[in-house]
Amino acid sequence: MKTVLITGGAGFIGSHVADRFLAEGWTVHVVDNLSNGRKANVPSAAVFHELDVRDVAAAELVRALTPDVLVHLAAQMDVRKSVADPVFDAQVNVLGSLNLLEAVHVHSPRTRVVFSSTGGAIYGDFTVPPNVETFDKNPESPYAISKLAVEHYLAYFGRVHGLEYAVVRYANVYGPRQDPHGEAGVVAIFCGRILSGEPLTVFGDGLQTRDYVYVGDVVDATFRGATHALPPTELLDARAFNVGTGIATDVLHLAHTLSHAAGSSAPVRHAPARPGEQRTSYLDVGKATSILGWRPQVSLEDGLLRTFTWFQDRDRATGRS
Ligand SMILES: NC(=O)c1ccc[n+]([C@@H]2O[C@H](COP(=O)([O-])OP(=O)(O)OC[C@H]3O[C@@H](n4cnc5c(N)ncnc54)[C@H](O)[C@@H]3O)[C@@H](O)[C@H]2O)c1
Repeated sequence: MKTVLITGGAGFIGSHVADRFLAEGWTVHVVDNLSNGRKANVPSAAVFHELDVRDVAAAELVRALTPDVLVHLAAQMDVRKSVADPVFDAQVNVLGSLNLLEAVHVHSPRTRVVFSSTGGAIYGDFTVPPNVETFDKNPESPYAISKLAVEHYLAYFGRVHGLEYAVVRYANVYGPRQDPHGEAGVVAIFCGRILSGEPLTVFGDGLQTRDYVYVGDVVDATFRGATHALPPTELLDARAFNVGTGIATDVLHLAHTLSHAAGSSAPVRHAPARPGEQRTSYLDVGKATSILGWRPQVSLEDGLLRTFTWFQDRDRATGRS
């Protein structure tokens, strides 16, 4: 039986990734310090280790398990927090990652590392989307810089030491268990507002676009990144895969589609545009299709309905509505 170690497995995406590996018959170990995730998200069939990825104990766990795959999702994932405290962001996202990569390199060289980077933030504002993996990267936040730094470390470990790895550059991921502080936080925020009967606040004209991808599709791309044959490790982008829908969705359309799915007539309220907000962001996903055989399967309408239903059920279960 194969073994996977999933960092951040008590979080939004990580808990879904853990479900998938279990369903595929793998032994699943989860590392999470519960700074943002919840123990309740970890599937009961997984072995849970409450650890910080910066700790020596996390490196020792890599050595003890020598897993076939390490899916590294644990991160400080709040872009605004990274702006407010770039040192903390780098400590978790760069040094925490390096702690694990060095452990793999020294103690478990046959482990394949799958790293969650960001297709939404890594390219910056100077490209004309849809962004292709090889486009210039000019990250606009410490968070995106830390993700790019780890990609460089991976390319180095791959080139110089033969480390096996894949980078999945997620777009804006939404779905059950998502967090309002994540890159697709607007979906969670809108779901909450519909459920509490409040208007949906849209900043500026609402025509700023993002690539909203359903978590189930992200999990599938991640699993393929962990198990498919990959091209040789050469340049930075050789093992990187954009994971999105290839569709630019503006916030107004998102609000209307979600309201429709939820059977709600919540009004949209405009608030002043937020300075510095990226106008357009969406990804070219042709590389993941041609190399990993992956395509997004869940439409925005269907994904939003599934997400809203989850928030509604959660609120009912906790007596919030
Ligand atoms: N959600 C998105 O739209 C999106 C987009 C691009 C990339 N990503 C990346 O995907 C990964 C998962 O994101 P998510 O949305 O599930 O976030 P999340 O916060 O739900 O999950 C991250 C998990 O990591 C844990 N964690 C944080 N710091 C830790 C530490 N020092 N040691 C151990 N565990 C720690 C948290 O407790 C949490 O459970 C992150 O690396 C994030 O940067 C997410």
